[in-house]
Amino acid sequence: MNNDLITRHRGFLKDTLRKEYDFSLTDQHRGIPAPLIQKPYNPEAPRIPLLAPPEFKSSISDTDLLTVVIGRESRRHYLPAPLSLSELSFLLFSTQGIRHTPHPSVSLRTVPSAGARHSFETYLLVRNVQSVDPGLYRYLPLDHTLAHLGDRIPPSSVIEGCLDQRFTGECSVTFIWTVIPYRTEWRYGPVSHKIIAIDAGHVCQNLYLACTASGLGSCAIGAYDQDIMDTLLHLDGSDEFVIYIAPVGRM
Ligand SMILES: Cc1cc2nc3c(=O)[nH]c(=O)nc-3n(C[C@H](O)[C@H](O)[C@H](O)COP(=O)(O)O)c2cc1C
Repeated sequence: MNNDLITRHRGFLKDTLRKEYDFSLTDQHRGIPAPLIQKPYNPEAPRIPLLAPPEFKSSISDTDLLTVVIGRESRRHYLPAPLSLSELSFLLFSTQGIRHTPHPSVSLRTVPSAGARHSFETYLLVRNVQSVDPGLYRYLPLDHTLAHLGDRIPPSSVIEGCLDQRFTGECSVTFIWTVIPYRTEWRYGPVSHKIIAIDAGHVCQNLYLACTASGLGSCAIGAYDQDIMDTLLHLDGSDEFVIYIAPVGRM
């Protein structure tokens, strides 16, 4: 083991930077306008409206919260059966849906985020969802729609990008979360990166719980090839890059 490397990286988990950093240097403190809360999209791109709450309520079982919490489990085998648009709408609302927009540069969502900075974008590789053609999409939380970004990506590319974990390409839809770090850095500067990582956990936990409540299965994927996944989504790998992945399928 390279103990120096390990000890150095442990520092990432601490909140010591907060004491060292001069917060008057942040872009927010210097009066630079807040970054957009949603990545712009091509207005010509076809968009798919999603079901809003409570329209998707029928996708959620009557199971009580305790049963859902106990039943949450990583699932790596899925049936070759489609998800409904209602189920997909519930999953997207549960993971990044906006509850309230108190100001154009602030959104309060179904997951918590330090300083409500919400630095994530949600991309979907759709394979088998009713009323949604297979392809690459991005969730637009501000208007709760899906923007179509491109044609179907072959499952083999996703499997390769996820280090040969076959089930990542053998599901109905793969969630790929990217991070735009500046949304948090604007306020917290170099103190941002630990809290962004914590924020990502909330998003995936809500996906797990929403899947469990809908009879669907998912599995968090933290082991992937950064370059392959960023290239698949046409990301620059610096201002935006993949941070977390989760396949979803019917159990
Ligand atoms: C941050 C994170 C990354 C993970 N990455 C992977 C992964 O790449 N492949 C995988 O099969 N499971 C992955 N998992 C799932 C864990 O293996 C799983 O949560 C653990 O075995 C406990 O099982 P449970 O979720 O069913 O309780 C990951 C889980 C987390 C929280």
